[in-house]
Amino acid sequence: MIKLKNNSEADIRRLRGSDFEAVRDFLRLFSTETIFTNQYPGQPDIERDKSVAAYENKDNLFLGAFLPDGRLIGMTSFQKPKPNHPWSGGNAGFGLCILKEFYHCGLGTELMRQLEAGAREKGVHRLFGTVRTENYHAIHLYLKCGFTIEGITKETAFINGRWHDEYYISKLLKEEK
Ligand SMILES: CC(C)(COP(=O)(O)OP(=O)(O)OC[C@H]1O[C@@H](n2cnc3c(N)ncnc32)[C@H](O)[C@@H]1OP(=O)(O)O)[C@@H](O)C(=O)NCCC(=O)NCCS
Repeated sequence: MIKLKNNSEADIRRLRGSDFEAVRDFLRLFSTETIFTNQYPGQPDIERDKSVAAYENKDNLFLGAFLPDGRLIGMTSFQKPKPNHPWSGGNAGFGLCILKEFYHCGLGTELMRQLEAGAREKGVHRLFGTVRTENYHAIHLYLKCGFTIEGITKETAFINGRWHDEYYISKLLKEEK
């Protein structure tokens, strides 16, 4: 259990197949709270079989933060796009989502810490992601966690009548002692 800055307690652990409903309910709410990920209001629910297979795939790591009553309040994950490739098998893409009620409570920092530890255990060399250029809190968090902005990709999303750009970010895990 970790104690958050709003005094809530959360248990961070790997997602299991039996968490499917908790993840579905989390995403239904999360998708209405922010435009900073690709989850959008009214999107179709996740599919059980695909989701469970992704949680149980040994090349991936899906972590969830749960309140004592079982509610999922934050998630992070990485997946290796080409886990068996001899050259690029060490790349893994990550994402991070927290419910608005729990922003700014230290949860993002803790989820990133545990995600990176899990990535090191699974031999990830390069942890990469994208972040919208106006997502200042996420950019601050990723830079604090040692990520580097590698470049910018233009007009990747059209939201509320205008185009949004993204940064490519990454952290090379072998560089840290
Ligand atoms: C971005 C996000 C992951 C940050 O998570 P979080 O749990 O709020 O982060 P933390 O509480 O660990 O704070 C991380 C840093 O950001 C700062 N921060 C976070 N929210 C802030 C806010 N609303 N105002 C000012 N600073 C804020 C914190 O001060 C902290 O910096 P510090 O350690 O130097 O003090 C979370 O807001 C979120 O899920 N947003 C919506 C989805 C999203 O943007 N995901 C990332 C997509 S790339």
